[in-house]
Amino acid sequence: MRIVVGVCGGIAAYKVVGVIRTLVLQGHDVHVIPTDEALRFIGAPTLEAISRNPIATDLFDGVAEVKHVALGQSADVILIAPATANTIAKLATGLSDNLLTNSVLASTAPLVIAPAMHTEMWQNPATQHNVATLVDRGAHIVWPESGQLTGSDVGVGRLAEPEVIVDAVTAATGPKDLAGKTVVVTAGGTREPIDPVRFIGNRSSGRQGVALAEAARDRGADVVLIGANLEVPPPIGIEFAPVSTVAELRDAVVSRATGADIIVMAAAVSDYRPVNVAETKMKKDAVGDAVSIDLTANPDILAELGAQQHPRPVLVGFAAETEADADALAALGAGKLERKNADLIAVNRVDEGRGFGAADNEALIVASGGRIVATVDGSKRVVADAILDAALEVQR
Ligand code: CTP
Repeated sequence: MRIVVGVCGGIAAYKVVGVIRTLVLQGHDVHVIPTDEALRFIGAPTLEAISRNPIATDLFDGVAEVKHVALGQSADVILIAPATANTIAKLATGLSDNLLTNSVLASTAPLVIAPAMHTEMWQNPATQHNVATLVDRGAHIVWPESGQLTGSDVGVGRLAEPEVIVDAVTAATGPKDLAGKTVVVTAGGTREPIDPVRFIGNRSSGRQGVALAEAARDRGADVVLIGANLEVPPPIGIEFAPVSTVAELRDAVVSRATGADIIVMAAAVSDYRPVNVAETKMKKDAVGDAVSIDLTANPDILAELGAQQHPRPVLVGFAAETEADADALAALGAGKLERKNADLIAVNRVDEGRGFGAADNEALIVASGGRIVATVDGSKRVVADAILDAALEVQR
């Protein structure tokens, strides 16, 4: 692929060297357009050596080759990383005052934007409005991460990790094989109240479900994300239904199941809930030293969907297990699949640093009869795409 990489003037420009290198090593023809401000953070020789192509900066260089449109016209995809608030604003309004913005305006290629800036600038309504405008026009946003910024401050606005940006470029140019399909995804972890301040919950962050929603959206599906207590923001460009308890999750899923082609139950669902929920905060003085809470079983949503007659949506369940042995993991997945009459189960091993809350995931995708259709190890996006591939295969 011919990839144009626009680099803007932000301290995160140095991180983009790793992105360019990966894209070149994957065999792509990479052309870098740094803004003048980017070249104050990173040197032209670095960008030329890493991209293995001369860089282009000046609007008035190579006028005879009509460079200001040629680069954009010939691109299969344009990536802008880091994208500053300034360049995002220019793109949203269609301004073209340098070679990068001219190239974007002259291009019909997919546009991938990886913003990086201070939290206040990112959260400013002007920036958020501009980002939403670009999403409406079909741009793919690689959402900035939360963490340590350039100074001593901490917040959202860090450039996403290089491998996440590379995955986004691949996804943006990938097939639209879910066009015309409706995909319902549940994500996060349910909370069952004990009293107004306490609940029974779990450690699911919702990252895998959000990655599934993003992947399905990028592949052309109409996506409904039913999110239980997500730790991460829901993606733009999808329908989002926030829920908290299992009862709310069940109602949201059941009401959207009709008409869905694929339902992926990535949410970690509480098997039990307290029989009685205290109306006021339970006080230690009243409860005493030992306390027991009576629990009752929640409805099994996946099993309820699985009991429907065909034709029904393709049903994908998840199983987060602590079992270390791969064969035993697959057997647990196969057992769950049979019990709930699902079509696929994504089994992933959870322990410290793996599964819940982590950026990466490892999963076995198990089909009926215990057949392993895929073993994936990578970002949650890579796992999401493998699950959607397997679900499409079931539909065929
Ligand atoms: N699930 C569901 N409703 C429930 C519990 C689970 O729909 N009440 C779904 C989950 O979203 C997941 C799959 O079923 O996709 C497997 O969840 P898990 O909790 O692993 O299954 P359980 O049947 O509860 O098995 P375990 O004994 O391992 O807890």
